[in-house]
Amino acid sequence: MNPLYAALPTTIFETMSARARATGAINLGQGFPDSGWPQDVLAVAADALLTGNNQYPPMPGLPELRRAIADHYQAHQGVTLDWQSEVTVTSGATEALAAAIFALVTPGDEVVLFQPLYDAYLPLVRRAGGIPKLVRLAPPHWQFDAAMLAAAFSPRTRLVIINNPLNPSASTFDRASLELLAGFAERHDAVVLSDEVWEQVVFDGRTHTSVLTVPALRDRSVKIGSGGKIFALTGWKIGWLCAAPPLTRALARSHQFLTFTTPPNLQAGIAHGLGKDAGWFTAMRSGFQRSRDRLVAGLTTAGFTMLPAAGTYFVSIDLAASGIMHDDVTVADRLIDAGVATIPVSVFYGEDPVTSTLRLCFAKQDAVIDAAIERLAAALPGLRG
Ligand SMILES: Cc1ncc(COP(=O)(O)O)c(C=O)c1O
Repeated sequence: MNPLYAALPTTIFETMSARARATGAINLGQGFPDSGWPQDVLAVAADALLTGNNQYPPMPGLPELRRAIADHYQAHQGVTLDWQSEVTVTSGATEALAAAIFALVTPGDEVVLFQPLYDAYLPLVRRAGGIPKLVRLAPPHWQFDAAMLAAAFSPRTRLVIINNPLNPSASTFDRASLELLAGFAERHDAVVLSDEVWEQVVFDGRTHTSVLTVPALRDRSVKIGSGGKIFALTGWKIGWLCAAPPLTRALARSHQFLTFTTPPNLQAGIAHGLGKDAGWFTAMRSGFQRSRDRLVAGLTTAGFTMLPAAGTYFVSIDLAASGIMHDDVTVADRLIDAGVATIPVSVFYGEDPVTSTLRLCFAKQDAVIDAAIERLAAALPGLRG
């Protein structure tokens, strides 16, 4: 076996979900919702499966989906994309990440990443022969400044990977931060790979700022989206890459030998969904925001201190501020025994981890949230001891 893979542990999500299944714990670890998906999107995909063409779709994706992606971003983010030369459909954001990293990194290139980082980034960068340069973000704001970027960039920097909104910290980067990053990317002639899968799941009236709306980044960035996150259908694995034509041509060459294409009926369902009116997206966001507020209110009343959560399906407990002096891995381990699976945020660091925050998924029905609050409240005195 390739030693790069032999050294990789099973992901924390698999480990925690398996333990939750084995012990009957409530699973607030892995980020999958238990309700909130649109029935009409399912119906269009089901119909396409039964009556449509189930043979290989075009390699860059169904024209109707690529058009729908371009129209969606025009309507929601003011981004103008040519659907034929700037959009590639992939098998989830995970394949989009792999295609982009394999297309853009050659052995020895340096890649700037921000930790905490989504778990696929580091193994993919290493598999491409890239050298990770990690910027360490910390609670409660999880932001970077010019000094942190200056320490990470070098003449060998070729790619920067950013995740906005950021999973697991549930924080966002604003336009000023993206402009700061743009200056560094321009000076070093680096491409910015922007994982924006959580773009539609932002709260408290926020609007998402895409890298493609920053003029200096428009032609040197690759934006990744995911239908799974937008429509709470995480098992569907329909993602996409949006980038200027020269970048898109490079991405397509990489994508064609990873999966080549993606199930056509699911593409048809997502194409239909992306055309929904603005009211559907607003209602979707308020539904998840209500769940966030329910979990945060319950845990705050129970004595936990919660960190802000601007987007995603996640919110974190600040362990130290909650009077818990154990590290996050120890606490997650004890909480499984108390009946709730969570994710220690330190596993999202490649080096020098923050060990004082625990991530919980709130995209669950009220009864599940309430039961989890009860179990966590009961466990708190023991955790403080
Ligand atoms: C930041 C981030 N990127 C990528 C993915 C993977 O998306 P997909 O399921 O479309 O492959 C996730 C899923 O949780 C994520 O949080």
